Amino acid sequence: MSFCGLKLGAIKQNLTALSGGDWCRALAVAGLVLYAVCVLVSNPAGQSTAFLNSLIFRRHGRYLYTNTDITDLVFGIATSASTWKTRRNYIEGWWRPNITRGFVFFDVPPKEYLPWSSISPPYRVSENVSRFQEFNKHAMPFAIRMVRVIKETFLEAPKGVKWYVMADDDTVLFLDNLVEILSKYDHNEYYYIGCNSEAVGSNADHSFQMAFGGAGYALSYPLAKALARNLDECIKRYPNLYGSDHILQACISDLGVSLTLEPGFHQIDLHGDISGFLSAHPHSPIISLHHLDYTNPLYPAMNVFQSLKLFMNVSRVDSSRLLQQSICYQKKNNWTFSISWGYSALIYEDILPPSHLERPLQTFVPWRNNYRAPAFMFNTRYPTNNPCEAPHFFFLDSVEQKTGGYEIVTNYVRKWDRRLPACSKTGNHSADSLSRIRVISPAKRYDGGEGKRRECCDIVRIYGGSDITEIKLRSCMEDEIIA
Ligand SMILES: *[C@@H]1O[C@H](CO)[C@@H](O)[C@H](O)[C@H]1NC(C)=O
Ligand SMILES: *[C@@H]1O[C@H](CO)[C@@H](O)[C@H](O)[C@H]1NC(C)=O
Ligand SMILES: *[C@@H]1O[C@H](CO)[C@@H](O)[C@H](O)[C@H]1NC(C)=O
Ligand SMILES: *[C@@H]1O[C@H](CO)[C@@H](O)[C@H](O)[C@H]1NC(C)=O
Ligand SMILES: *[C@@H]1O[C@H](CO)[C@@H](O)[C@H](O)[C@H]1NC(C)=O
Repeated sequence: MSFCGLKLGAIKQNLTALSGGDWCRALAVAGLVLYAVCVLVSNPAGQSTAFLNSLIFRRHGRYLYTNTDITDLVFGIATSASTWKTRRNYIEGWWRPNITRGFVFFDVPPKEYLPWSSISPPYRVSENVSRFQEFNKHAMPFAIRMVRVIKETFLEAPKGVKWYVMADDDTVLFLDNLVEILSKYDHNEYYYIGCNSEAVGSNADHSFQMAFGGAGYALSYPLAKALARNLDECIKRYPNLYGSDHILQACISDLGVSLTLEPGFHQIDLHGDISGFLSAHPHSPIISLHHLDYTNPLYPAMNVFQSLKLFMNVSRVDSSRLLQQSICYQKKNNWTFSISWGYSALIYEDILPPSHLERPLQTFVPWRNNYRAPAFMFNTRYPTNNPCEAPHFFFLDSVEQKTGGYEIVTNYVRKWDRRLPACSKTGNHSADSLSRIRVISPAKRYDGGEGKRRECCDIVRIYGGSDITEIKLRSCMEDEIIA
């Protein structure tokens, strides 16, 4: 019955978090807890755990095991003296000095970067791994140093950490979404949370059961502890695996733990223009991006770091809606609008159903292009010149908090002309003259993801001689069908 003590411990934490006005509910909950304990005693082997779970932990429709916040996480990031100069731009984009905890680990002391910047994570130098030389047959020569970052982070970390998050120096993390996702899981259990690659070939080469390291992944405290204790022995068992993330997956599997997939972690094993992918993000909060050195800049007509700055700026305004897709229709013109919040707005000159628009337009190519189809872990659509299928692409231009603070406005502008005639089968309603789309959303976090619906939208206003369309996001009504 050890689980009983554990769960009751968590209940206590939840109760102490209640504010004054919640006391009535707290008393009611306490009564139910007593009832639950009675059920537990009379039926110890039965379904009482499930009963307790559904009773206590389902607040606001989500499992909240504990009040996880950013200081419950510690980050371990592998870098090197040769990559830090440019890669620090990625890390400093998401790191919160004096709030986030963790370290970057160098291969050699970073003498040329001293005095150390206070907006970077503190640095450490990885332990010399030459003693593992005979076990290093890895194609990636620094794999052993990288996999040991989890152990070195565990040993350096302060007490009371719930989650250990590992990432590369070119990973960009969205911290509020990460914290929200992790709070769904019980950090006292053994969790390995991340995502595999977008490219079928990358998963086939490594493992479909592996959390790709560039996407970042989270390990719960007991798992990080067990790994840290067993890691050096484990490294010797797998001298031939390719990357540090694959060695780690093997070591985690040895402990009897398997991957929990969260689709918001993105390895981005894609090359070129990823706008099709980012315009049809899975219905789950975005947690990370990676490999931005290998893709076109996020927004066109900006360089990599300018466009990342804009993306991080908008993420600070509302990360919960970032890249979340909403679809609405302007029946009078037979147009479909597909918004990827904070990123893009697409107009199609036809009425297209959500099931179609949820498939990314394949504007990109896989990491390695020498695999047979299917190349991706998701369905795609091929870009075409059919005027009824090819969207008008608008990209984020600016974000503003409206007066009163109840609404957020994101503005999307056309970056290039579509250069196609109008779709004739739907009545020749060209969208060419439209130059700007304003999207109004509530200034409160969207509770999306598992078990939740996408937000609906309405076209509320057309002005500026019909070249600006204003769209408002809202919760869908009970029986509302988006198409
Ligand atoms: C972080 O805290 C230290 C010590 O309190 C302070 O010197 C430093 O300026 C702070 N850094 C930032 C970026 O706020
Ligand atoms: C690691 O130790 C070996 C053997 O002592 C030494 O030759 C090597 O230079 C060391 N490497 C680093 C990066 O300090
Ligand atoms: C991001 O926000 C900062 C602070 O508000 C602002 O100075 C900067 O111009 C913004 N950058 C971009 C690319 O929007
Ligand atoms: C919309 O398209 C349909 C064909 O898909 C057509 O029958 C209808 O007349 C069009 N409506 C308008 C307002 O053009
Ligand atoms: C749309 O335009 C084409 C070419 O100008 C024309 O042939 C067609 O009849 C038009 N369709 C409608 C529904 O107006």
